[in-house]
Amino acid sequence: MTMTSDNHMRTFYEYIVVGCGGIGSGALYWLSKRVGPDVLGLEQFQLGHERGGSQDYSRIIRMAYPDDMYTKLTPHTYTAWSEVERESGLQLVYRTGGLSIGEKGVSDHITSEYARAMAANNISYENLTGRQLHERYPQFTLNDNLVAVYQKDGGIVDAALGNSVHVQLARGNGATVIDQCPVTRLSRDAGGRIAVHTTKGIFHCRKVLLTAGAWMNHVLGSVGVHIPLYVTQEQVTYFGTPHMKDFTKDRFPMFIYHKADYDIYGLPIHGNSGSKIGIDAVGPVTTADSRTYEPDPVREKIVIDFLQTTLPKYLGPIIQTKTCLYTMTPDRHFVIDTCRKYGWDDVIFCCGAGHAYKFASLLGKILSELAVDNHTQYPISPFTMEREAISNPNYKTDFHMKGNSQSKL
Ligand SMILES: Cc1cc2nc3c(=O)[nH]c(=O)nc-3n(C[C@H](O)[C@H](O)[C@H](O)COP(=O)(O)OP(=O)(O)OC[C@H]3O[C@@H](n4cnc5c(N)ncnc54)[C@H](O)[C@@H]3O)c2cc1C
Ligand SMILES: *[C@@H]1O[C@H](CO)[C@@H](O)[C@H](O)[C@H]1NC(C)=O
Ligand SMILES: *[C@@H]1O[C@H](CO)[C@@H](O)[C@H](O)[C@H]1NC(C)=O
Ligand SMILES: *[C@@H]1O[C@H](CO)[C@@H](O)[C@H](O)[C@H]1NC(C)=O
Repeated sequence: MTMTSDNHMRTFYEYIVVGCGGIGSGALYWLSKRVGPDVLGLEQFQLGHERGGSQDYSRIIRMAYPDDMYTKLTPHTYTAWSEVERESGLQLVYRTGGLSIGEKGVSDHITSEYARAMAANNISYENLTGRQLHERYPQFTLNDNLVAVYQKDGGIVDAALGNSVHVQLARGNGATVIDQCPVTRLSRDAGGRIAVHTTKGIFHCRKVLLTAGAWMNHVLGSVGVHIPLYVTQEQVTYFGTPHMKDFTKDRFPMFIYHKADYDIYGLPIHGNSGSKIGIDAVGPVTTADSRTYEPDPVREKIVIDFLQTTLPKYLGPIIQTKTCLYTMTPDRHFVIDTCRKYGWDDVIFCCGAGHAYKFASLLGKILSELAVDNHTQYPISPFTMEREAISNPNYKTDFHMKGNSQSKL
């Protein structure tokens, strides 16, 4: 924790960001560009901790999505990150190319949706047959039963670095960031402003930006709001492939392979010497407080079997399996809204729904606009908390979540 004696005494800030993970550090940065020292970031753990959702070497970034509400935003994520890269002089995004791979008759309707949503937003892409996929990337075994959609801008964003860069630039702009400082609740103060109660005292502000990830409902609860959120324990495995030069960022793309029931995704080598792979949204339901850090050998075995048939050179001894939390809404779409319905239009919050890192800087910018301007230039209306998936308690989850504590596999 760093706190100078000057700001030690300061207890009022225009804006307070609660939670300095991926999205919160983005919000701090973009707010600091607008308001300089009038923003405070509060983080319950040490900055850079690994208990949340945003701390690994790499996350997928892509233009490609199977849904227009995201393909309208994805080009802007690249613009937001490039501004951060320009200001820091550090590279965060690597455009390795990205693949969405389907099996004919099983999951090619998904790759078609990717193609449709990109075409609708003028994002260029190419369709590949299984043979063309193998010819372009011989790392994939030849399988005529596959189809793929290739998008050249797909790649990786360095998440751990992105977070620390956002925070350092924000501090450079005068923002204050205090870690090891859990927010316990919000209340209305005598002046009609917001009192932010923490273990280090009470801070006051005009607006709160709540980016608390898996802990979101703990803080929202104090203003009477509850969002249906499913926290799952996900994992990624790094393999010590001996064929490293086949999987460098200039030789191998990011890929998402659509199986009948779930997606498997892989990323080229970055940050360590391993090839990286994971299965999307199949982990057991847990909570931020009860989750473990134990790798699940069942999922390790599934990706090994997959790689043996599809990408054999990717394999090697397991270097590490890292666990990580997804915090998902029932429809897996973001929530970006205020708590105005509950009398708190000055509390703005953002739930990332388990696929938000690529958007972390853009979401930070959107939150900064909502805070300072009361509206944003970006199309976020689909992400309202008024929608059925959030407001109807009987809404069935769109990701086959059984609501029990078992992994889906
Ligand atoms: C294995 C895995 C792979 C993923 N892959 C991708 C990918 O390839 N591409 C992609 O775009 N996304 C991916 N995601 C999802 C993405 O990483 C998350 O959606 C995103 O990082 C969430 O950011 P966040 O800021 O909401 O949460 P977090 O980064 O968890 O931040 C929340 C922060 O709030 C703090 N906090 C909470 N409560 C309080 C409190 N009361 N007081 C103070 N601080 C508090 C927490 O300590 C934490 O630091 C992946 C996630 C996982 C787990
Ligand atoms: C790619 O394939 C989809 C069907 O999956 C089709 O609708 C689309 O027109 C094709 N696009 C191009 C550029 O060939
Ligand atoms: C896509 O390009 C066409 C032709 O240039 C244009 O008419 C249309 O408005 C564009 N659509 C989007 C969503 O940008
Ligand atoms: C935002 O809304 C608040 C209260 O609703 C108002 O006081 C403030 O002037 C508005 N700010 C801008 C920039 O419109």
